[in-house]
Amino acid sequence: MDKPKKEKQFLGHPRGLLTLSMTEFWERFSYYGMRAILIYYMYYSVAKGGLGFSQPTALSIMSIYGSLVYLSSTIGGFISDRLLGARKTVFWGGILIMLGHIMLSLPAGSLALFGSIILIVLGTGLLKPNVSEMVGNLYSEKDLRRDSGFSIFVMGINFGSLLAPLVVTWFQAKYNFHVGFSLAAFGMAVGLIFYVIDGRKYINHKDNQAPDPISAAELRPLLSKIGIGLLVLAILLVGMAAMGALNVTNVISLITIFAVAIPIIYFWMMLRSKKVTKVERSRVWAYVPLFLAAVIFWAIEESGSSVLAVFAANQTQLNFAGFKILPGWFQMLNPLFILLYGPIFARLWVKMGDKQPSSPKKFASGLVFAGVSYLVMILPLMLSGISARVSPLWLVLSWAIVEIAEMLISPVGLSVTTKLAPKAFSSQMMSMWFLCDAAAQAINAQLVRFYTPGTEMAYFGIIGALTVVLGVLMFFIVPRIEKLMQGVN
Ligand code: GLN
Ligand code: ALA
Repeated sequence: MDKPKKEKQFLGHPRGLLTLSMTEFWERFSYYGMRAILIYYMYYSVAKGGLGFSQPTALSIMSIYGSLVYLSSTIGGFISDRLLGARKTVFWGGILIMLGHIMLSLPAGSLALFGSIILIVLGTGLLKPNVSEMVGNLYSEKDLRRDSGFSIFVMGINFGSLLAPLVVTWFQAKYNFHVGFSLAAFGMAVGLIFYVIDGRKYINHKDNQAPDPISAAELRPLLSKIGIGLLVLAILLVGMAAMGALNVTNVISLITIFAVAIPIIYFWMMLRSKKVTKVERSRVWAYVPLFLAAVIFWAIEESGSSVLAVFAANQTQLNFAGFKILPGWFQMLNPLFILLYGPIFARLWVKMGDKQPSSPKKFASGLVFAGVSYLVMILPLMLSGISARVSPLWLVLSWAIVEIAEMLISPVGLSVTTKLAPKAFSSQMMSMWFLCDAAAQAINAQLVRFYTPGTEMAYFGIIGALTVVLGVLMFFIVPRIEKLMQGVN
């Protein structure tokens, strides 16, 4: 037998895993660093260095921004597959993201904010789905290291998300918001340098080209479709302006409708397509309740950087055990618990082997945990009243619970999505997973308006209880979902 060509390694994996994990580490560092202070930047008064938006508007913008970031991954997938190939698409994504953070580092008010949102939405859409795709391409289909490669990659994501709120918040508090945002820009720049130097050498060379390049004949109809789309959008916006209704709130509502409609259209397309076999169609039907459960879960998980961030600043004791806590630091709890739980759950599933719960059961339990993470927030409000500041440990507890849900839904969802995908729609199905989060935050953009001083208890109580009830109800339909999954578990 031929001796295999010696490949440069990293922890027993292809060396490219280090390149891509570091790129994603720094990209997430910039994203979550920025998000840790952005909510405060928007609603803090001008005197405190903020923009002085109302709190509900700030919450709503945070959510719709998060929605757009994942919605744009569909564009990123298309550009990589049909135009540029993954390596270049990721590079340009990183450049746009860096420019977006630089824009926020300038003291240029809300114009810079909206400009930066556009740049980071487009940039993340180009970068995020494709960097994951490139990780997959480091391994052959049968390579047994594939799953553990992705676990290392996810560790990178969470280490970046853990470190960023710590340092960015600290710089913001010591200097000002713009210095904080420039640190996010710096992080993305480091990631880009790493990616450019290393990327050429260690990634799969097939990422240099678009796998399914668009032909000249296809280009024309595509451009006219894009043109029509932009025209419709322009007419809509001009119409709104003419009626005096072109404002942030209405634009957000428009995006909400869009973000909820897109996955519905995807499902409709897949269920009606002649390219989908009977077995595959059944699996797509099985995916519908899983998708809905994931939307509810992400709505609660993502509210950590909006609703819980506001709770941290307004209603939590920030002098605790002789220690001054900065509100942005609470954003470290999410990745911290992921990093703590990761190895525990990995061992648990290996130990349970065949006896581990099916994906729909894990989803149902995840919903219950997510709901409970909201319900526990009622307790401090009941005990101390809504005008007192409560112990930060309540937020720690809430995050400790919601991250159990994340362990039961996020990695499981990613894997079950690929397994339930019809052959003809495999890349669209991958986008579907990001669309869960996009739809969730689009719905949040409407819900968070109800989170105002005095309504906190009702907010946590109603959403939490409803989620628990839906989780319990889901257990009853688990056998039906399992049957529809046709052998996938
Ligand atoms: N928190 C993860 C990330 O930032 C997961 C996002 C998602 O799957 N919606 O990468
Ligand atoms: N938990 C967020 C994402 O995985 C940071 O990973």
